[in-house]
Amino acid sequence: MKLFSIFGLALIAQTVSAHYIFNTLITESTNSTNAVRQPQDSMPIHAYYSGEITCNVNSSPASETVEVKAGDRIGFHVDQKLYHKGPVAIYLGQAPGKVADWDGAGQRWFKIAEWGPTFNPFSFTSLNKDEFMTTIPKSIPSGKYLVRIEQAGLHLTGTLEFFVSCAQIKVTGGGNGKLSMVSIPGYIPKNDPSMMVST
Ligand SMILES: *[C@@H]1O[C@H](CO)[C@@H](O)[C@H](O)[C@H]1NC(C)=O
Repeated sequence: MKLFSIFGLALIAQTVSAHYIFNTLITESTNSTNAVRQPQDSMPIHAYYSGEITCNVNSSPASETVEVKAGDRIGFHVDQKLYHKGPVAIYLGQAPGKVADWDGAGQRWFKIAEWGPTFNPFSFTSLNKDEFMTTIPKSIPSGKYLVRIEQAGLHLTGTLEFFVSCAQIKVTGGGNGKLSMVSIPGYIPKNDPSMMVST
């Protein structure tokens, strides 16, 4: 009896560790895990219409805010190659005050990059990458931002699995571009049929 339960536990532990965390912010000057509000664990988020989707569940405070120039490359490293199928996107959120104090609430987010789901050609394939890099738009206003990466896993029926991390940055040398912003949560309507494909 005892043997069986130990075996069961080992199986559960393995399933849990099989997910992944976007744990490192990559900029041209530094790679930082301290700038990332580290998620507690690699478990996916299903409530994409709740505050959990903003910067993950009870993520730890980041001890660093990395300075980056508008126009520079920026991105995230993830602790293993993405094997779930589904798109990845990077958003910037303009902090209303001190970035460390902002939980990401409000209509202050805009998308700067996306990696769409790929087809092989008859079904989705996974992105199979552990690094996602883009460029900070040159025209955005200088100031403090959260940079947020998400993957929307489409592999389950009737629900989504989100993997999300936020990091703190300070953008210098920006412009006066007008930003069109959304709220996170709120950017994906509940039960949006386009998000309910199952792969
Ligand atoms: C950051 O990590 C990337 C690979 O993920 C590496 O190519 C680059 O040299 C690193 N940069 C610094 C400043 O350590």
